Amino acid sequence: PAGDSASPQKREHWSGQTAFILAAIGSAVGLGNIWRFPGEAYENGGGAFMVPYLIALLTAGIPILFLENAIGHRFRGSAPLAMRRVHRNAEGVGWFHVAICFVIGLYYTAVIAWSLSYFWFSFGLDYADDPAGFFFNDYLQLGSDVTLSAQIVPSVALPLILVWALTIGILALGIHKGVERLNVVGIPLLVVTFGILAFRALSLPGASDGIEALFTPDFSVLTDPEVWIAAYGQVFFSLSLAYGVMITYASYRRRRSNVTGPALVVAFGNSSFSLLAGLAVFATLGFLAQTQGVGVDELENITGVSLSFVTFPAVIAQMPGGQFFGALFFASLVLAGLTSLISVIQTISAAFQDKFGWNPRIAAVAVGLVSAVLSVLGFSTASGLYLLDTVDQWSNQLGIVAGAVGMIAAALWFGRRGHELERHLAAVSTIRPGRYWPVLINVIALLLIYMFVSKAVSLAID
Ligand code: PFF
Repeated sequence: PAGDSASPQKREHWSGQTAFILAAIGSAVGLGNIWRFPGEAYENGGGAFMVPYLIALLTAGIPILFLENAIGHRFRGSAPLAMRRVHRNAEGVGWFHVAICFVIGLYYTAVIAWSLSYFWFSFGLDYADDPAGFFFNDYLQLGSDVTLSAQIVPSVALPLILVWALTIGILALGIHKGVERLNVVGIPLLVVTFGILAFRALSLPGASDGIEALFTPDFSVLTDPEVWIAAYGQVFFSLSLAYGVMITYASYRRRRSNVTGPALVVAFGNSSFSLLAGLAVFATLGFLAQTQGVGVDELENITGVSLSFVTFPAVIAQMPGGQFFGALFFASLVLAGLTSLISVIQTISAAFQDKFGWNPRIAAVAVGLVSAVLSVLGFSTASGLYLLDTVDQWSNQLGIVAGAVGMIAAALWFGRRGHELERHLAAVSTIRPGRYWPVLINVIALLLIYMFVSKAVSLAID
């Protein structure tokens, strides 16, 4: 039928299960693991955060990862097409996923571009003397009027354009030759670069103080709903759930594939990487605290953007072989970020391919060019940093919760496809989700609605 899929072409395929696993891990492992996870853990009870985090992973992360894989694999489409096949009125849910991807793509690219610049700066340790001043004034050229300037800063625009050119190029090559190859090379490389980095970090003097700070549990936080919201939010962001990404990636798997097994590999691989990143980041902070003669808890700027672009450069400047360490750190950020970005833009591109019959090349160029122009206009100006925070709050905290609830409502409540999807998973997979899987997902949806309301209220009050 018209509009179902205007595409006369055959759907593209991954070359096999390993390729799919690497691509899905590539999407999951990203900036969120390297700078989001350690900071979230530290701020939400340290070692005690592992409790809500693990519970969130088991009760929501894995069940919803199964759901997205089931939808993508069974209904074989990008998010809007697959959702439309789930329920005839649910195409909009898929487009909502696509819209959120579009927003994330704009700022995710900015951080990758900064990392690319900093990879370059590491060789000359350009940022060593005054890391904060270098980042905010010399590099971003923030000056005093943080939110107002619309002047494009060439040193930021250039790497940004480069990242977009690379993204468009890779996506234009298609799933098999483009996305798959990037991940098959990039993910093992990331494991090596980050592995060396972690090893070096753990052998720094003071490393154990940092790790102690991260893992000293504060169990009193377990009664704080905000901590649980943070844990569920981290798991969703980290596994790229509720963005339509996993639906899209699963739609390129061959018909008879094991769906649940690889999903579990992705989930545990991603969490292991987060844990390693937590250890490495806090070991490094322990070293920094020691050189400054303060406690780890007295350090400032240890989350988010400042962690990577102010605090880390300060450490790099002080350690022997800093150039090498710096280059490895920023190369890891670029690799982790690029493999995630590709999944986000592919989700948008696939939606247009399915809707209008465009081929991967046309879709990649069209989607990429529009995004590139907007992200250069928005993020290579001094306002970028301000924009980043706002966008992150709305899209990652409210947007995904709405996207997840919409998907569950369409599939289970209106589409009544819980058992069908469960049987689909059980038929082709080694690990069966079990009869209680749809029940669990209903409970999660209620939890998400609660999270949505409380977050919306707190944003509105702010
Ligand atoms: N999972 C990625 C990370 O942890 O950095 C971020 C991400 C990728 C979010 C893709 C959403 C997405 F669709």
